[in-house]
Amino acid sequence: MKNKILKTTAIAMALSIGVAQAAEYKASTAEGPIKIVNLNAMENQVKENMEKGAFGYIRGGAEDENNLRANTKAFDKKYIMPRALQGIEFSDLDLKTEFLGIKLDTPIIQAPMAAQGLAHQQGEVATAKGMAKAGSIFSLSTYGNKTIKEVADAKPGYPFFFQLYMSKNDAFNEYILSQAKQYGAKGIIMTIDSSVGGYREDDVKNNFQFPLGFANLEAFAKISDDKSKTGKGAGISEIYAQAKQAFTPADIQYVKKMSGLPVIVKGIESPEDADTAIKAGADAIWVSNHGGRQLDSAPATIDVLPAIAKVVNKRVPIVFDSGVRRGSHVFKALASGADVVAIGRPILYGLNLGGAEGVNSVIQQLNKELKINMMLGGAKTVKDIQATQLYTDADFK
Ligand code: LAC
Repeated sequence: MKNKILKTTAIAMALSIGVAQAAEYKASTAEGPIKIVNLNAMENQVKENMEKGAFGYIRGGAEDENNLRANTKAFDKKYIMPRALQGIEFSDLDLKTEFLGIKLDTPIIQAPMAAQGLAHQQGEVATAKGMAKAGSIFSLSTYGNKTIKEVADAKPGYPFFFQLYMSKNDAFNEYILSQAKQYGAKGIIMTIDSSVGGYREDDVKNNFQFPLGFANLEAFAKISDDKSKTGKGAGISEIYAQAKQAFTPADIQYVKKMSGLPVIVKGIESPEDADTAIKAGADAIWVSNHGGRQLDSAPATIDVLPAIAKVVNKRVPIVFDSGVRRGSHVFKALASGADVVAIGRPILYGLNLGGAEGVNSVIQQLNKELKINMMLGGAKTVKDIQATQLYTDADFK
């Protein structure tokens, strides 16, 4: 009898430990610079270092992942002509530039990404510090695991942007935009390409639900009667389902007026949308297909960039992302019409492997590769890169 009770207690304890472990997500606490051979190779390292569902969510793309692959592959179809007689010293190469009045040490910024607590215990605060160290911009997602205040209070030491996923609830939109303004965000990245979640099969296979709450949504839930899901225990499609779906130019005007900050409209792949957004008052255009996570049949961003740049015609600056894994990709995007280039997943991999320093290591690796491309392609400055002509197979026929 006594044995039986002991046994039952032991099973109950084991079960409750099991439950506690399942509920408690163990994120990386790694700190320090990381050795990087190239950004693609980081993915395998991170796979070993992260819970399967979390890794699948971060790495994955929509449907057959054609767009995810094409984004990177499409850069191979553009060539940089070697130029050797411009009298450029490697030590004279200059990566400094400016975006919306913010001085940058590199044309590479961070693309906003949700749930960075999956990659590291310090989440978005560490990413912000890493980007500050690299002399560049961090962007906090509405679906981050830290609030705007937490990021601001950590004093990362560099301007940051806030990425807005508008809610169907205007009270939330007003609340979050006033927080962004109050805590010093320098711009609002208004994301318009996520009216529904892309069909991401890794998340389906892994039945992935966020193990950590979205801090901004949780903070609002505390002060309102909003009963929306706040991240923890929900899948990304359930979160997107709560977000605003029917976007019109009036929404851009609303965000501008409500925030009083520059509005960067993100998720643009067509020249028509770019033109509409600018006419509605967009202060910048962010060319992106969400890293291949939304519409799998969408074209690679580098393929649509020249036509968008032509229509934008320098009325506003252009941010470019999706598929950038090499310094040569940064070069090609700048030469195709971008003013700055944003990096997504590899930054989360750096965060996972080395915290803030790991994030900085990712930017330094890209800076290093970019400089080699500048030297060999005959471009001393970011402006020189932007004035460089790229070639395609058609040019050699
Ligand atoms: C994504 C959003 C949240 O999961 O950025 O792609």
